[in-house]
Amino acid sequence: MTDHTKRSLQHAPTPERVVLALLRWFAANARALPWRRTRDPYAIWVSEIMLQQTQVKTVIPYWERWLRELPMIESLANAKPEKIHKLWEGLGYYTRVRNLQKAAQHIVSEHDGKFPAQFDDILELPGIGRYTAGAIASIAYNQPAPILDGNVIRVLTRLHGIGEDPLQKKTNARLWHLAEELVTHASCVKHHGPACSHLNQSLMELGALICTPRSPNCAACPIAEHCIALRTNRVDELPRPKQRATLTARRELAFVVEKDGKYLVRQRPVGVVNAHLWEFPNCEAKAKDTAKASAEQHFHSTVTSAKQIGTVKHAITRYRYVTEAFLVKLAEPNMLNVRTGETWKTMAQLNKLAFTSAHRRIISLLEG
Ligand code: ADE
Repeated sequence: MTDHTKRSLQHAPTPERVVLALLRWFAANARALPWRRTRDPYAIWVSEIMLQQTQVKTVIPYWERWLRELPMIESLANAKPEKIHKLWEGLGYYTRVRNLQKAAQHIVSEHDGKFPAQFDDILELPGIGRYTAGAIASIAYNQPAPILDGNVIRVLTRLHGIGEDPLQKKTNARLWHLAEELVTHASCVKHHGPACSHLNQSLMELGALICTPRSPNCAACPIAEHCIALRTNRVDELPRPKQRATLTARRELAFVVEKDGKYLVRQRPVGVVNAHLWEFPNCEAKAKDTAKASAEQHFHSTVTSAKQIGTVKHAITRYRYVTEAFLVKLAEPNMLNVRTGETWKTMAQLNKLAFTSAHRRIISLLEG
């Protein structure tokens, strides 16, 4: 251990001073995000679920539309599955939206339609883990519940100079403890407004705006003077990077079949990725497979022409897909839906259904 490191370890950041600096910074620098104008736990819950895996600027229009269409917990509990999937179309990770509805139904049956205020009751809801329960308890109810997500992990591992894997059990527990220490201190300080809510949001905000993964803006950081990573020149090394699964390349062929202004489409079954969403008929293919032969095998019909209309790249879990879309003409299109469970829809109907992102892009190839 160098003298430098020893000295920095003796000066672990003091929570009181960190909390005051963060609250002051947040008051002056918080972005005016739409969910920051409300204390409605339902609206905050929806924002937190949307913000998992999705960027703020993508979420804003989805959140606004959702609250216009489903303004109350009851409206979500009673909404048709088609409607909630359409409102979520493009956000991905569709289990989130189904859990949101299950939780709304649970709130109606067990909590009289009122969003619970007890941390343990919040944590029991489908789709809500420790992070989301903490976010709702602190932001909607100003409770001193800690939060720890990717942004907060980055801020805290740097602030405390933590070089161990943040997802490993012991280090993760230490990070939760540090997050709890901060929000607990916040609950004791004098502050204009809800201090626990603002403290937690200041950690998210610092991670999003200043303490970014690459090129963090330490010169503008309100807690730079407390930051062990900065003092020991390890900002770029922390947090220790995750082991990434290597992505496997896959080729997919999608077949657009049109007849009398209608298109053949199908709904993905329950239990697979993107369940419930709609798509064009498609199959995996080897490099040497032709679209004509693959379509003939898929439809059990002679293909009279297969013309490529474009290519769409997308990723699902650990696969990187290149989807080649073909306009396919079949010798016997009338026989199709009987055999394959696929169904004919007009373009107007397609636009009302929730499609997977890749296949929504195929629709825009047709329209464009
Ligand atoms: N990321 C997760 N929750 C957030 C929030 N409430 N505001 C901004 N970004 C977030």
